[in-house]
Amino acid sequence: MHIREAWKDEPLVSNSGTMKVSVWRGQGDVGQFEEFDVPVLDNQTILDVVSWIQQESDPTLTYRFACRVGMCGSCAMMVNGKPRWTCRTHVKKVRKDGAIEIAPLRNLPVIKDLAADMTEFFDKWVKAEGVFHPSKTREDPIEPINHESNARQQASAAIECINCAVCYAACDSVSSNSDYLGPAALNRAWTLVNDERDSAAEQRLKAVSGDGGCHSCHSHQSCMNYCPNELNPTASIAGLKRESVKNLSWWGW
Ligand code: SF4
Ligand code: SF4
Ligand code: FES
Repeated sequence: MHIREAWKDEPLVSNSGTMKVSVWRGQGDVGQFEEFDVPVLDNQTILDVVSWIQQESDPTLTYRFACRVGMCGSCAMMVNGKPRWTCRTHVKKVRKDGAIEIAPLRNLPVIKDLAADMTEFFDKWVKAEGVFHPSKTREDPIEPINHESNARQQASAAIECINCAVCYAACDSVSSNSDYLGPAALNRAWTLVNDERDSAAEQRLKAVSGDGGCHSCHSHQSCMNYCPNELNPTASIAGLKRESVKNLSWWGW
């Protein structure tokens, strides 16, 4: 469905007047907030608000979304100072003194307006060895996985990450150290360390143990508090810390 048609499915009649919405406009480090009057509608999400502005008021507004149902992770922005999936955030829940402020995700460079540049976020996944290294080939028989094993349960507990970068935006360690790999990449590394089908646990533990790795986490738990999927990257990072310390002797440290 065309974006505009999707918006038109919503009731267009304002049922409680308008609200003031401040939206970040600009490119790179240069920009400012611009205010819009937006109709208040029933069951309106922050993504609906951004879409209304772009479709009815200023077509040059740049932002990103895809699924509108909390599956793709592409619509994350700062809403009244907090990182959120905008498609799953209802205006009613977050309006402060009748107003809303929407900005691009914190801790990432800005491409334009509300679209953050995710390059460094995904580069850090690769740096943390967040990539699966199979221990088998296509020709090998498929072996059953024991879902009851401790390792599988730890992997499964952390696996539902959709790469939205909400936790990355919430993390003060990322703000103070741009080399820090961040909660999402480390959470992913932990799922793979516990995945018995993967063959690169040692290499991965090395990758996450150096400067900017798991030991730079201060365990503030902001990542856990803001993750919309209710994951706990702090616990995953604690696991990496334990495993990397256990294995210091392997590497002659
Ligand atoms: S851990 Fe949660 S907040 Fe972080 S990227 Fe994954 S889904 Fe998003
Ligand atoms: S627990 Fe660690 S990764 Fe999570 S927000 Fe705090 S410093 Fe960042
Ligand atoms: S648009 Fe896909 S998660 Fe919000």
